[in-house]
Amino acid sequence: MHDIIEELEKKRAAARLGGGTKRIDAQHAKGKLTARERLELLLDEGSFEEWDMFVEHRCADFGMADNKIPGDGVVTGYGMINGRLVFVFSQDFTVFGGALSEAHAEKICKVMDQAMKVGAPVIGLNDSGGARIQEGVASLGGYADVFQRNVMASGVVPQISLIMGPCAGGAVYSPAMTDFIFMVKDSSYMFVTGPEVVKTVTHEEVTAEELGGASAHTTKSGVADLAFENDVEAIAMLRRFFNYLPLNNKEKPPVRMSGDAAERIDHSLDTLVPDNPNKPYDIKELIYKVVDDGDFFEIQREHAKNIVIGFARLDGQSVGIVANNPMVLAGCLDIKSSIKAARFVRFCDAFNIPVVTFVDVPGFMPGTAQEYGGIIKHGAKLLYAYAECTVPKVTVITRKAYGGAYDVMSSKHLRGDVNFAWPNAEIAVMGAKGAVEIIFREDKGDPAKLAAREAEYKARFANPFVAGSRGFIDDVIQPHETRKRICRSLAMLRDKKLDNPWRKHGNIPL
Ligand code: HXC
Repeated sequence: MHDIIEELEKKRAAARLGGGTKRIDAQHAKGKLTARERLELLLDEGSFEEWDMFVEHRCADFGMADNKIPGDGVVTGYGMINGRLVFVFSQDFTVFGGALSEAHAEKICKVMDQAMKVGAPVIGLNDSGGARIQEGVASLGGYADVFQRNVMASGVVPQISLIMGPCAGGAVYSPAMTDFIFMVKDSSYMFVTGPEVVKTVTHEEVTAEELGGASAHTTKSGVADLAFENDVEAIAMLRRFFNYLPLNNKEKPPVRMSGDAAERIDHSLDTLVPDNPNKPYDIKELIYKVVDDGDFFEIQREHAKNIVIGFARLDGQSVGIVANNPMVLAGCLDIKSSIKAARFVRFCDAFNIPVVTFVDVPGFMPGTAQEYGGIIKHGAKLLYAYAECTVPKVTVITRKAYGGAYDVMSSKHLRGDVNFAWPNAEIAVMGAKGAVEIIFREDKGDPAKLAAREAEYKARFANPFVAGSRGFIDDVIQPHETRKRICRSLAMLRDKKLDNPWRKHGNIPL
């Protein structure tokens, strides 16, 4: 028995050593932690239950028969984050560059399958050279097996990817199908084809960082949600982020009470919106002042800044916040912001997280770039997302709500549960100037008459009371009582039940 125990410990020690001290040192020299060090930071101390430590690849080609490392380049299992269950896999770059073999894929699939059965999130820490080249098509099959599970788990358990090293080629498609992607600055990159191929095909010269680094994906492409300075910061923020989410689609997110009173009022909000309707103001100030303890976990903050999305709590309850930001492009909806917000609303809806929407939107962005880029289809994504969403929806129009964008932004007509407007809100089919130029075309040559018409139109429509008279707005509220009114609404909506008709799936305009 003693020998067997010794043998077991030897095997465990070999697995723990991964690709060996030299490669571990090389990993550290790049400023990266190892797969195991990352899991130690991610999971509550001592909570990690490792699986498949002794799994080895089955490849005999290219000298691989004598080159086996227990665990085969990925550390898998489950553990706790702040006492809540999570399944994890962490690719080990020190073992064959973290490359994915058939056995490596099987290990990932096993934790994903189990996570689905018990209803717990999956977090993947990605650091891999891609398909295990020696295994060829077996590795491609392994990727596809993971992809299939990503899709089956989508909307059932939250899936989060942390990109902490290379992630290239088809390998990017597993993270792409997870709910959120966080990246580490300077040490991670994602692209479908690398700089060499790009150079050959398009003659563009670009570095890996420029092509697919954290900055590219959090600003330009919007593929990644957030970028962090290093492994430690990324993991610490992921632990915080995890607290907003339920474990699965049948659960509600955890409630975390703070000392912040639900009925707190904030008089500074009464002067947030400038008198001049064309002057911008920072919608984030409103968010910070309304949510519990001013704690707002913004995501995609560097991408499509004309819309703000993120998680917060109101009276302890997790909420998803969507807000037009008049500071950028006057807060209008364009292709990128529509896609950004639509995906977020769908995540919240899938996971029982109420959506709070702050509206200050002058309309959709005009122009050929937008039309040729498909603003019709992409704008429709946000409309579709809000319309199919059945979680509690509370909306506050802080200033402008014009045209189609009024309808889209969680309006009453899209089954908004509680729709408020501030007293200065302008809810109309279009701005007064544009409106009178169309309906009083005959007055075009008479600026004085046109100005009078404009003033008349403004007085008639640029207010919340026309919408209020039809019940499209439930109440016109004072800005300072916004938190109180939203918290009361959410409390009233706590047991809301609403189902969409049965169908295989809808056909969102992709
Ligand atoms: C097997 C691999 C590997 C791979 C790296 N290694 N990638 N082994 N299959 N795909 C091994 C290396 O041989 C090396 O082994 C160790 O990992 C570390 O690699 P280095 O090159 O020394 O590290 P570094 O300089 O940091 O470069 C990392 C890298 C580079 C940029 C990822 O290794 C690289 O370009 N690898 C190939 C990437 C690739 O083309 N993958 C296939 C893509 S196709 P030793 O023993 O020396 O430590 C693909 C299709 C997926 O993934 C399709 C899914 C549908």
